[in-house]
Amino acid sequence: MASIIELLAEGTSFLCSDNVEGSKNDAEWLLAHVLGCSRLELTLQGQTTVSKESEIQFLELLVRRAQREPLQYILGEVDFYDVNLMVDSRVFIPRGETEILVEWLINNTSKRIGNAFSIGGNFSSLNILDLGTGSGAIAIALAKHFPKSCVFAVDRSPLALEVVRENMRRNGVNNLQFFQSDWYSAFEGDKWREQFDLIVSNPPYLTRQEFDGIQDEIRRYEPISALIAEEEGLQDIRIILDGAQKFLKKNGIIAIETGISHAQQLQKVYGKYFKQTEVLKDLNRFDRFFIASR
Ligand SMILES: C[S@@+](CC[C@H](N)C(=O)[O-])C[C@H]1O[C@@H](n2cnc3c(N)ncnc32)[C@H](O)[C@@H]1O
Repeated sequence: MASIIELLAEGTSFLCSDNVEGSKNDAEWLLAHVLGCSRLELTLQGQTTVSKESEIQFLELLVRRAQREPLQYILGEVDFYDVNLMVDSRVFIPRGETEILVEWLINNTSKRIGNAFSIGGNFSSLNILDLGTGSGAIAIALAKHFPKSCVFAVDRSPLALEVVRENMRRNGVNNLQFFQSDWYSAFEGDKWREQFDLIVSNPPYLTRQEFDGIQDEIRRYEPISALIAEEEGLQDIRIILDGAQKFLKKNGIIAIETGISHAQQLQKVYGKYFKQTEVLKDLNRFDRFFIASR
């Protein structure tokens, strides 16, 4: 039987020989997953021998990873902001960039919308809408941070909504309602006019050409309906921004993650429809988020 250290070395070189980026890290995550321990424990117990059964399980996971299945799907979970989410091939894997958007909203919503809604730092009655919620990442993080708010989350994919249900339960969130909807289609009728203080979305924004050139992990495994948009990647973003005129309250905020070539363009076109607009950068200093106040 092999020790933890030996298996990690073998696993790393196996993934490395298949050119998997971050081979050492991934081998550690996979072995920790099989043994049900943390990566730190792996290091501390390096000389411990591993059962044959676990070794075989580890090998099976290494093969899946070498075939480019994303690590998060194999592990079945991902940390996003301060929540832990179940993920599988039914949903897009929440990204680090989107955490920047959530952080910005948590830090700026009270300043922008006004303290009228804020009671001891908590919002009493904000209506928040997350369009294209996927695993529920943004909606659940915001629902936890604004516990007195009503969060609405929609997705066109019924499979994604099954994952949202599981992730609400997992994170003990109960101020969130979700609907199957083609963007705003679940909110027809005057009842919903100017009802949302905050509309947030990370919609599909890749062009077909960008998608074709993207790494295998994304192209072969993540739902294509979460990734590609027509009109140079802008079709869904435009629908969402156009709808904000109807559904956002006066002084409300809309915040959208976009492709790196989109945000400045949107500021030019939509500047005249909103009171204030701005573009935020991601950690790589790319223009990534378009924010507007009505
Ligand atoms: C890039 S993913 C983002 C998922 C999640 N918000 C996140 O940041 O992890 C885009 C999501 O939009 C959903 N979507 C695509 N077209 C849609 C439409 N017409 N109406 C509603 N949701 C849509 C996809 O199913 C997918 O879950």
